[in-house]
Amino acid sequence: MPSPTRLLALAALLRPLPSSRRARKVLPTKLPTTLPPPTPDNDLIAQTANQVDQKSAPPVDAPPNADVPPTSVTAIDGTVTNSTIDGVSASNSTRRRDVGRLGKRQSGFEKIFDGLPADQHDASIQGTAYLTYTVVNNATYNVQACLDWCADIDECVFVNVYYEFNNYLLDKVFGEHSNLKCAAYGDIHTEAEKLNFGGQQSYPQLGNETVPLTYITQSSGWGLPGIKEAVTPDGYDLVFGPTGGANNAPGYMGFAFIDQYDVAACAALCNGRGADPNGGGCAYFNIWRAVVDGVPTTYTCSMYYFVADESSAVNFGQGSLVVTLSRGYARKSALIDGGFEGYTGCDDFCFTDSYANWIGTSPSGGTPRRLDLLLPALRSHGPRIWTARLRLRCANYVVQCFMSSAYSGSQLEAPAKVDIMWNGMRVGGTSGFTEYTFVEASVVGTGSDELTFVGGAAPAWTFIDDCNVYKA
Ligand SMILES: *[C@@H]1O[C@H](CO)[C@@H](O)[C@H](O)[C@H]1NC(C)=O
Ligand SMILES: *[C@@H]1O[C@H](CO)[C@@H](O)[C@H](O)[C@H]1NC(C)=O
Ligand SMILES: *[C@@H]1O[C@H](CO)[C@@H](O)[C@H](O)[C@H]1NC(C)=O
Ligand SMILES: *[C@@H]1O[C@H](CO)[C@@H](O)[C@H](O)[C@H]1NC(C)=O
Repeated sequence: MPSPTRLLALAALLRPLPSSRRARKVLPTKLPTTLPPPTPDNDLIAQTANQVDQKSAPPVDAPPNADVPPTSVTAIDGTVTNSTIDGVSASNSTRRRDVGRLGKRQSGFEKIFDGLPADQHDASIQGTAYLTYTVVNNATYNVQACLDWCADIDECVFVNVYYEFNNYLLDKVFGEHSNLKCAAYGDIHTEAEKLNFGGQQSYPQLGNETVPLTYITQSSGWGLPGIKEAVTPDGYDLVFGPTGGANNAPGYMGFAFIDQYDVAACAALCNGRGADPNGGGCAYFNIWRAVVDGVPTTYTCSMYYFVADESSAVNFGQGSLVVTLSRGYARKSALIDGGFEGYTGCDDFCFTDSYANWIGTSPSGGTPRRLDLLLPALRSHGPRIWTARLRLRCANYVVQCFMSSAYSGSQLEAPAKVDIMWNGMRVGGTSGFTEYTFVEASVVGTGSDELTFVGGAAPAWTFIDDCNVYKA
């Protein structure tokens, strides 16, 4: 969606175009100016944060050393769910598992809290971003073995070490023969989150004997400093953060909660987010951690079709919810000058054959005519071909543009068409009378690529604006 200044520029086109005096001139009637672009619904986000339960601990009956599960989505646009990233995305993500977690260790672990004395019952952590657990040799209170194990898990920034008694599987079944549990988390937790007191029946019932219930002792917590770093995901630039403010910016598309602070997962959600019909594709996301009553509760990805920055990152929380670790990331377009603003030949609309970023040609046999207008949008009038050359990595991309073939009215625009060509193949486009509309096409980068708009059918005009080529 064009920015307000671009819309002003489009409005300037209400004057007749000099090259098509024959046609009755009407601008697209449904320019997306009628409603202000949406901003986040912070009440809905806070309400949903109160509904999700992302806190967990090693289950009493789970074997140790399970793989760390992929980041999952716990709510989408206010609806609580339990899905994979791909499950809520319009396209398959290509994210790598090992990026985007909370920062990697620079130095060693620090003790966050001590366990209670060995002769007292204690409780283990029931917290967010639980990853997996192991058991370590219980001949001593073997914290170091637990820390060493955590250091080998990318996402692990915190461990909870404790004994669990009366667990039949630990005592009699699992080969490790140890009841000293070491639970890995992707976020730092505090003593206030010691909420799992055991009390479960794990031993089988034999006759009428009383079955001893599980209990926990010596539950300590150890965390990594430097948790505030994050790896910038492929296809994005860090815009700001971490700060204590979430964006309250226009162009909001919706939000997802995820079960870990996983920047790459937010990027995959933004990439896979369906386009907003007025605003276009996701161009920016804001990830932040919600801390409720002092306890990490969920991790939010808010998505936008406008790129925001720190100046609008002014939502610090509400009620008992505090915003922490807020970062903004802008999606990088591989297309140079997809808004055609690089042409500075005149202040008003004007004609050109080519300029630095776009090359205009006429089809073979056609008479080269100076028919095309630039500024602020590319206009394709008649059989005219506009090409940009890109150097892309071999990967999947998506071409996104806004187009309108409504200027000359429905009758004269009826034969309008624009083909989007990628390396000579038609991948999408518009045809016929169309109001301002979002158009996208999936393409594959080959290393040296050509994006071309082929216009046709004067006296129809198609306006092309705000094009991006994003990594899919
Ligand atoms: C979410 O779904 C997975 C797979 O079906 C399941 O293993 C997991 O326990 C579920 N989590 C919750 C919180 O329901
Ligand atoms: C995602 O990938 C799977 C397997 O690779 C494929 O079957 C499915 O059609 C893809 N979905 C989309 C939306 O591309
Ligand atoms: C170590 O764990 C095993 C298995 O749970 C248990 O039988 C044993 O008593 C534990 N040893 C100590 C010193 O806690
Ligand atoms: C438990 O069962 C045994 C025999 O099976 C019986 O003698 C005993 O009285 C029972 N004890 C209780 C407390 O019910």
